Amino acid sequence: MRRIGVVTAGGDAPGMNAAIRSIVRVATYHGLKVMGIERGYAGLIEGSVRPLDSRSVSGIINRGGTILRTARCEEMKTSQGIQKAKNTLKNNGIDSLIVIGGDGSFKAASEIHEASGLPTIGVPATIDNDVAGTDTTIGFDTAVNTALFTIDRIRDTATSHERIFVVEVMGRKRGFLALEVGFAEGAEFILVPEVKYNTQDICGKLEQGRRKGKASEIIVMAEGAGNSATITEQIRRKTGYDVRLTILGHAQRGGPPTARSRILANQFGAYAVELLLKGARKNMVGMKGRKTVSVDLDYAWKERKDLDMSRYRLAEILSS
Ligand code: F6P
Repeated sequence: MRRIGVVTAGGDAPGMNAAIRSIVRVATYHGLKVMGIERGYAGLIEGSVRPLDSRSVSGIINRGGTILRTARCEEMKTSQGIQKAKNTLKNNGIDSLIVIGGDGSFKAASEIHEASGLPTIGVPATIDNDVAGTDTTIGFDTAVNTALFTIDRIRDTATSHERIFVVEVMGRKRGFLALEVGFAEGAEFILVPEVKYNTQDICGKLEQGRRKGKASEIIVMAEGAGNSATITEQIRRKTGYDVRLTILGHAQRGGPPTARSRILANQFGAYAVELLLKGARKNMVGMKGRKTVSVDLDYAWKERKDLDMSRYRLAEILSS
């Protein structure tokens, strides 16, 4: 193994740059070369590749986004796309691949591995934290803190005006981000795609809370838990209270990574290179408790990671 290809794919996540830096510096330490693939899988298909050395990753550990850029790439879901990716790797003398991304990117990575036979390692990086085989992903902690920063401010104005705020956070399919943010914020309700809810019940509890002296309420909801505008309107109509909606959107994907996201990226990047040096074929690096682990790459995207329901229930108790 002499030349590692590294690509950031799918939605960006704060800490991806720190992971690129860690991969490049550890690979260089071991006398290996790194080729950066630009614009995610789109660049892998088009052959957009450039060498990366220790100096080209200076001053990026603190920067959100990804210096390699990224893209949502539909063509990579086709056999034609996989074939083109295989050709790019071959034409650039790349003999192993590290993919920094989420579950969708790992599915494609697994297919690239099958087609090319090249050792392939996944580094989980997504603000959604919806990757099986790891407790947490690069960028998740940053997104949680970014959302909290804003919702703390919303709480101030909500209390002053005695209003209810519905705050939509990202997470089209899963509610990890909403649960973590809602739990840390002390939100009165947390709506996630994994748990059914009834707007009538929510309204009843809101009214009960007001009778007990609550002045304002925060409802944190995941993108995938329903239509936030409709829910806001329904609550307004049923309760007669003043209800506002804030959609945090892509602000949650940017910004400097927190210490936790950077440290995780440092560890994951280094471990990915070490796994390749040890002869790994198709794995993902992960974190279980305080230990870095490696799991089969297919496990990461085929298995469904469970939401921590005990935390969900505790959040309900604490918000009463
Ligand atoms: O990367 C994950 C994520 O931010 C999800 O939380 C969100 O649903 C989705 O990406 C948004 O994707 P896009 O940036 O392509 O609109």
